[in-house]
Amino acid sequence: IFATKTHSVSTMATQSCLNISLRTIVPDEPEVEPVVVACAGKFGDYQCNNAMGLWSKIKGKGTDFKGPPSVGQAIMKNLPKSEIIESCSVAGPGFVNVVLSKKWIAKSIQKMLIDGIEKWAPQLQIKRAVVDFSSPNIAKEMHVGHLRSTIIGDTLARTLEFSNVEVLRRNHVGDWGTQFGMLIEFLFEKFPNIEEVSETAIGDLQAFYKASKQRFDDDPAFKERAQQAVVRLQGGEPKYRNAWLKICEISRKEFHMVYERLGVHLEEKGESFYNPYIPGVLKELDDLGLIEEIKSDGGYNYASTDLTALWYRLNEEKADWIIYVTDVGQQQHFDMFFKAAKRAGWLPTDDALKPKVTHVGFGLVLGEDGKRFRTRSSEVVRLVDLLDEAKDRSKTALLERGKAEEWTEKELDQTAEAVGYSAVKYADLKNNRLTNYTFDFDQMLNDKGNTAVYLLYAHARICSIIRKSGRNIEELKRTGEIVLDHTGERELGLHLLQFSENVEETCTNLLPNVLCEYLYNLSEVFTKKFYSNCQVVGSPEETSRLLLCEATAIVMRKCFNLLGIEPVYKI
Ligand code: ARG
Repeated sequence: IFATKTHSVSTMATQSCLNISLRTIVPDEPEVEPVVVACAGKFGDYQCNNAMGLWSKIKGKGTDFKGPPSVGQAIMKNLPKSEIIESCSVAGPGFVNVVLSKKWIAKSIQKMLIDGIEKWAPQLQIKRAVVDFSSPNIAKEMHVGHLRSTIIGDTLARTLEFSNVEVLRRNHVGDWGTQFGMLIEFLFEKFPNIEEVSETAIGDLQAFYKASKQRFDDDPAFKERAQQAVVRLQGGEPKYRNAWLKICEISRKEFHMVYERLGVHLEEKGESFYNPYIPGVLKELDDLGLIEEIKSDGGYNYASTDLTALWYRLNEEKADWIIYVTDVGQQQHFDMFFKAAKRAGWLPTDDALKPKVTHVGFGLVLGEDGKRFRTRSSEVVRLVDLLDEAKDRSKTALLERGKAEEWTEKELDQTAEAVGYSAVKYADLKNNRLTNYTFDFDQMLNDKGNTAVYLLYAHARICSIIRKSGRNIEELKRTGEIVLDHTGERELGLHLLQFSENVEETCTNLLPNVLCEYLYNLSEVFTKKFYSNCQVVGSPEETSRLLLCEATAIVMRKCFNLLGIEPVYKI
């Protein structure tokens, strides 16, 4: 659905030139599109790889070409005169290397400084997407797996939103199912007067779940009543429905506390929301003779709810891309109901067509012992405790650096939160989501290496360069000019321009680590290539270099924003 066409500034510009060339040399092959990759080598900034494929298409058709290199030569010679390209060369079997003009790179950055970073957003061929993420289960613990889903899902939603896609952020909460029978019965036992039930009265909902499960397993009479309760709940009896609502409400409040701290916004449409639609959907599938297949996995409830939710998202919400973020353990479940939906004709069998569904799987969070992440007493780690610890540790680090004298208590607290939560998020997002990763506070809060702390420092330092220059940066944006004569300047400029193709790749392949890698490299290029070689304040190039600093800070902040990281300006 995305084809090879990209709408990112530098790639797009290069492609548009190559397109003109291709149309000239092979007018009879209008479907051949320019294929361009960033190469960051010494031969060029971008490479066009069309020659070989084109050769195999046209050889024997009586053209003058003598092989891929001559096709490459022709592509190069027929490039239009353009302010975008500085020079070109052909290498090996017809690779066309393109060097972008530094004037054009500078101009593009200046334009961004005036028009805003939104102008660099990729344009996807998607109108409306559903991102189904976080999705914890009522009364059960919200564990690190849900944390991963929340963090990854939020970043994907943010990048899609930035790319002008309308995103429906859906919390597919597990608020239905047989476990509610025992919860409700247990609630009645503990609180004969249901009005007394409150958060504080129940206390820890996880403990409540455990205790009711114990009761369920130990007492056959209770079990009997619990099973009855499910039937009465499903039948809509008010007393049972109210009890169910109470339990959901308490869980919901707990979830919200986590979302608020993480700055994640979600709209709940839990499993129960789809109940009224299930019979109709199942009938439709039954008429097509597909019901057996759906039941065969034994998980009738979860699968039929998901099929119904998919139906709803396609038909009522008119989404053209539906994305599910869960652990890889659920891969089979998704494969199965995606297949059913294809059989039913709801989805095209060709994955390249819309509407499209994608399961975004992720690996486990491991403890330092290499096993599934648990507390010392091998309990599931509570997310609130984890966030508390992240905040405490980052506060300790700030105090060690003597910030208590410099900052107010409020400033300390806010920075500790921003840094602590960002560290947790970034440590998760920087890994390819499919791999397992080890949760390690010391490592993620280190101010050196590929961590959020390091990046936040790097950004704050750039801001302070600009502040300390005493120049009015808003005025410079309007009156100053960027010049990229030094290789350090040029390299930084090109890297800035490549922001949008990295955002695009993050969206299309649903890989937040691509954006993290881009961000980390940006701060490396800034420090090692640019700042250590190019004096900024007090140099003859001060204006241009301050503008480069500002552009870097803007791009970094946008990356932070897409990763759900709160930037800090002093650190
Ligand atoms: N509640 C499920 C869990 O905790 C995740 C739901 C994911 N979304 C979905 N549409 N199945 O594992």
